[in-house]
This record gives sequence, structure tokens and C-alpha cells, in this order.
Amino acid sequence: MVAFPTETVYGLGADASNPAAVARIYAVKRRPPGHPVIVHIGGVAQLNRWAREIPEHAAKLAARFWPGPLTLVLRRAVGVGDELTGGQETIGLRVPGHPIALELLREFGGGIAAPSANRFGRISPTTTDHVRKELGSDVDLILEGGACEIGIESTIVDVSRGRPVVLRPGRIGEDDIAKTLGVASTSPDSASPRASGSMQSHYAPRQPLRLVGSHEWDLLARQGPTRRSVMSFRARPAGDASALWIEAPSDPDRYGHDLYANLRTLDSSGCDEIVVEEPPASAKWTAIRDRLSRARSG
Ligand code: TXA
Ligand code: MG
Repeated sequence: MVAFPTETVYGLGADASNPAAVARIYAVKRRPPGHPVIVHIGGVAQLNRWAREIPEHAAKLAARFWPGPLTLVLRRAVGVGDELTGGQETIGLRVPGHPIALELLREFGGGIAAPSANRFGRISPTTTDHVRKELGSDVDLILEGGACEIGIESTIVDVSRGRPVVLRPGRIGEDDIAKTLGVASTSPDSASPRASGSMQSHYAPRQPLRLVGSHEWDLLARQGPTRRSVMSFRARPAGDASALWIEAPSDPDRYGHDLYANLRTLDSSGCDEIVVEEPPASAKWTAIRDRLSRARSG
């Protein structure tokens, strides 16, 4: 079991063809059974080992975005185990766009099952320091790759049932997908495969997190008796008594790059509550708004 860098977040990897190795990932993450994991592969040439068929949409998205922050959900090939798919008929596959991850995959030769290298439900790691602090001696080896460039997890697109369905938003947006395929993607419905990262509570800090809209900011941000830490687009006002005030980048890519590290810093700042100013409602912020809304409490 090896933690390794990708361009999105650090993964906790093991041989995808070895059920005992995959079981160890679940044990270390304390992840309940029945959740699928993403299998990382070195290139499209390996798709047939894991997927029963490669629909045209899948081929186009792979050609356009791999290696990169995109996970494709496809019908699983014969022999692909339930421990990878959570018992579903589909498998999540991705060619990561990080030189160390690609070299690891090339040297290894097979598929590497890798969820994010954090305990279940918690904030994904974007540095080796995060992995070490959270998983400690439970991991055999951590490959150093610096801070992850993108900082939030890959876009997951289900292409197993015709019309593409975005199961988890990421840096690659619905507009990028529509431009590549010439058809719009849809939102998940009840027949869509389950994705644990799309559960209501996920990516959560330990302290309660409150999202405050920009228009209510002056009214709400300072209410209540708690000792709070803040992440806002504004500078810290004079006389502010927050335990910590982070002025967040106004560019969504930089915001995403820093997001999880900032949440960890806020979480360990000695506050009783984290208050985050809600980012704009435009498409560029969709993935960030998704993660923040799952990180918030209640
Ligand atoms: O950016 C990423 O995708 C990172 C890096 C390490 O590659 N990995 C990651 O893995 O975020 P994880 O396990 O933390 O989240 C994977 C998500 C989960 O929500 C899981 O339910 C979903 O992918 N998933 C995996 N296989 C699936 C499948 N066959 N059908 C539906 N969802 C699937
Ligand atoms: Mg995860």
C-alpha cells in the first residue's frame, strides 16, 4: 500500500487485482464496505482489462482529458471484483496527470485502486504532510510529490448508460464535457451509480463549518457566542477577534488549490466554529461550492 501524488489529491494505492490489498485500503481508511474505488491506469490501452465496452462518449472524453482530472464510470469487464465496484456493475477508471503517478503506474504495469488518502468522510490530503498526520504508520510508503496542483478531486462522469452524467463536479466542468461530446450532460438520477463523495456529509473538518452568503455576511459572520475562524474574500476588518482569518484567493483555480489545506488550518486553529464566505454561483465555482456544502455541518 503506497500513498502517491496525483494532480488532484493524494491517493492511497494498492494492487487493484489483489482483493486482500484492496481490503487493506478499506481498513486503513475505515471506510464501510460497499463503496466503489477508482482504479488508476497508465493509459487508454489498459481500458479493456477493466471495462466491458468503451462507448463513443468514453473514447472521446478519454482522448481529450487523459491523463487528467477525469474519472470515467464504465460497465465493468468480466472478472472485475465487487471489492472495486462496491458490488455495482460499473467501474471507475482514471489516468492521472501527474508524472510520479504515471511513472508508478508504468513501473507497476497493472491497475492501482486508490481512493483519496484520508480517513473516511474527512478532508482529502493535498500534501504528504497531510497524509502522514492523518494515516501515520498505517501507510507503508508515501511518495513525495509536493502540493497537488488542482487540490480537489477529479470530475466523475458516468458514461455507462448513454447520456453522460456528472456524478461529482471537478476542475473539468460540464461545459468542457459538452464541448467535447456535442451533448449536454445531465444530473444524477435514482438509477445512477452511487458515489460516496456525493454523500451529503463528506470532506468534513472536525469543527462545525458554516457557509455564509456574501449578502448576509455583515449581518451573520459575527453573530453568536462562539470563538470562530474565518475564510473570506475580504481582508480581516480592524478589531476583528477571530482566532484565525484567511483571505481566500478570488481566482477559483487558486482557491481550489488551497481549499483543503486552508480547511485543515482553520480546523486546527483553536476555534469552535469555522465560518466560510460562500463563493460566487458561477460555473467556475461549481466543484468548490459542492465540496464546501458537503464540508458544512448539519
Ligand atoms: O481525484 C480523484 O479522483 C482522487 C485521486 C486519488 O485519483 N480519488 C478519489 O477517490 O477521490 P475517492 O475514493 O476518495 O472518491 C472516489 C469516488 C467515490 O465517491 C466513489 O463512490 C466514486 O468515486 N466511484 C468510484 N467508482 C465508482 C463507480 N463504479 N460508480 C460510481 N461511483 C464510483
Ligand atoms: Mg475521498
